[in-house]
Amino acid sequence: MKILGSGHYVPKNIVTNDDLSKIVDTNDEWISSRTGISTRYISSGEGVSDLASKAALLALEDANISASEIDMILVATMTPDSMLPNNASIIQKNIGAINATCFDINAACSGFLFALNTAHAYLSSGMCKTILIIGAETLSKIVDWTDRSSCVLFGDGAGAMVVTADDSKSFYSVSGSDGSKGHVLTGGSTLLKNMLVNKEETNILTDNYYMHMDGQEVFKFAVTKVPECINKVLEKASLTADDIDYYILHQANVRIISSVAKRLGVSPEKLPVNLNKYGNTSAATIPILFDELRKDGTLDNAKYIVFSGFGGGLTWGASLIEL
Ligand code: ACO
Repeated sequence: MKILGSGHYVPKNIVTNDDLSKIVDTNDEWISSRTGISTRYISSGEGVSDLASKAALLALEDANISASEIDMILVATMTPDSMLPNNASIIQKNIGAINATCFDINAACSGFLFALNTAHAYLSSGMCKTILIIGAETLSKIVDWTDRSSCVLFGDGAGAMVVTADDSKSFYSVSGSDGSKGHVLTGGSTLLKNMLVNKEETNILTDNYYMHMDGQEVFKFAVTKVPECINKVLEKASLTADDIDYYILHQANVRIISSVAKRLGVSPEKLPVNLNKYGNTSAATIPILFDELRKDGTLDNAKYIVFSGFGGGLTWGASLIEL
């Protein structure tokens, strides 16, 4: 699999830490020192499929191909505009990718990574030739803006990547899930509630629409699982941590990223960070960061990069790709 192009798009509305201190009891010093985040972009009026369509058009332009050459669109999101139609189909209509098969994938912050692995499987089986993969979120609609421990962490945005089949390029992946720890990160639940169901039976999961997170549990999980799965993918590829030019990690917390660098024994410069600007945009963090590094020339001489994501589910993974 080869990456042909990438693009990203974030909404115009910047929200600073000081802005947040006007709505919850927090301050810039706490947010910056605990997370590394200074600003995030919050959508006003644009849905996930709007952000994603703009990122997709930039990726197509970068790849220098037309929308009709795309034979699949995979959208990783946990904040779709609608369940029906799926967001990939809305984006197909927006960008005119008339030959694409379209579906969404939800694996929270690991979503883009799982979509990348899915794209690789379709390409290596010969079922597709060129795939558009998008990670896009409007987390602002499920964030509890009264909960200071979580609302300061998240932002909205979209990143896109065009990949094509290429046997000459190496690709290795490792991924996993642990549903027994699902309670650590929850949100977006829907009730089984209709006129045929008694009120007492209106059940289901929990009445839990807004995101709720046990931050410390997620932190502990991330700092152990991420290095573990990166080491596994390196082993699969018979490469060492030093052979990798850049590790493009899910951008959740700068302290998680520093801890992973330390555990891998590599210089922190190999783990670029942009969460100071965007916050955690869940499935969009990896493709946004990749696009920035590609466009500013950082990846010009890079041969191997590792993507690694972790998040709700719980889910995690690492994929190694030769550029
Ligand atoms: N401003 C000021 N004080 C705050 C804030 C805030 N925004 N949030 C919490 N505090 C307070 C707490 O109330 C607590 O006060 P207390 O000691 O009086 O009780 C104190 O700060 C410490 O709180 P902790 O939760 O212990 O802070 P911690 O150092 O663990 O940092 C954080 C919290 C930043 C959330 C950290 O745990 C973290 O980054 N975890 C990982 C989160 C993550 O990666 N999430 C993304 C998952 S991916 C996905 O799928 C969405």
